[in-house]
Amino acid sequence: MERKRILTGDRPTGKLHLGHYLGSLQNRVRLQEEYECFFIIADLHTLTTKPGKENIAQIAGNARQMVLDYLSCGIDPEQAVIYLQSAVPEIYEMNLIFEMMVSVPRLQRVPSLKDMAKSAHLNEMPFGLLGYPVLQAADILMPRANLVPVGKDNESHVELTREIARKFNYMYGDVFPIPDVLVGEVGSLVGTDGNAKMSKSLNNCIYISDDAKTVKKKIFGMYTDPNRISADIPGTVEGNPVFIYHDVFNKNLAEVEDLKTRYREGRVGDVEVKEKLYIAVNEMLEPIRERRALYEDKSGLVDEVIFDGTMKMRAEARDTIRQMKKAMGLSGVWNSISRKAEKVKKKRQ
Ligand code: TRP
Repeated sequence: MERKRILTGDRPTGKLHLGHYLGSLQNRVRLQEEYECFFIIADLHTLTTKPGKENIAQIAGNARQMVLDYLSCGIDPEQAVIYLQSAVPEIYEMNLIFEMMVSVPRLQRVPSLKDMAKSAHLNEMPFGLLGYPVLQAADILMPRANLVPVGKDNESHVELTREIARKFNYMYGDVFPIPDVLVGEVGSLVGTDGNAKMSKSLNNCIYISDDAKTVKKKIFGMYTDPNRISADIPGTVEGNPVFIYHDVFNKNLAEVEDLKTRYREGRVGDVEVKEKLYIAVNEMLEPIRERRALYEDKSGLVDEVIFDGTMKMRAEARDTIRQMKKAMGLSGVWNSISRKAEKVKKKRQ
């Protein structure tokens, strides 16, 4: 039996943080045995809000950092197909065909797009940004994926992908599986500053690649209960970022319970709470650091992983596009014209 396929990916914005680790990387590592995995480096998607030449100049470096994070977290470079979206021309082709299967009002109802336009400070919606989820549908359907693990913010894009796949199959015949979505149970992780979301632009991240010293500094600088100005004042655990982190990163549940109890009763200092959190986070990051050191030693390995993955994906893509155009009768148009042209040319000789 062939394994079912996963497709997911990220825009290459650089190094990944603990929110990415919890929300998606852990999941990918867990699923990679059971599924054949395709991970797209979605650089074309970055052009929807950042099309400048200076932005494009950052892509290669960002992609390398991101893929090094993937591998450090345990994604197996021998198994996963990790590839560069912009280097697979068939994705642009499929995108155009899919644009015919969706209406503008349908796209205007996709909730994430307005947020993206807003945070990119765009006062008008670019045509390409409106088409963001259509391009994503092409990403997903190109390897004929069965399952798409994404964050909550991308759920509506997979829903649209399913609609496009159904519509295509209905109009032209069965080419695409209808992919299921797998939404990560962990929502976004709070930032070290207490902001609802860990995000590079807010400068409140702990990165997967941070060394022990940096992690320590960030954790000791974390926002906690602001009303607790000394260790003997009872504090609030709920919604307190330091305890949210303890809940997700500290495997020693008894220790976490003890800290919470003493915090509520004003019997523990911030230093102890943070010191124990630092130890827990560091324990989690240590094996990741070890793997990173191995990969960093083999210089050029990351580039080779992306190169090989892209070559594999190109072959897949050619196959899917061939099936797509055949089902549509689109390849037949060119075939018919070129055959006739060849014939007349031969006759004339
Ligand atoms: N939209 C995703 C993001 O928010 C990136 C992405 C592009 C993606 N294509 C995809 C995710 C296909 C899953 C499947 O960054």
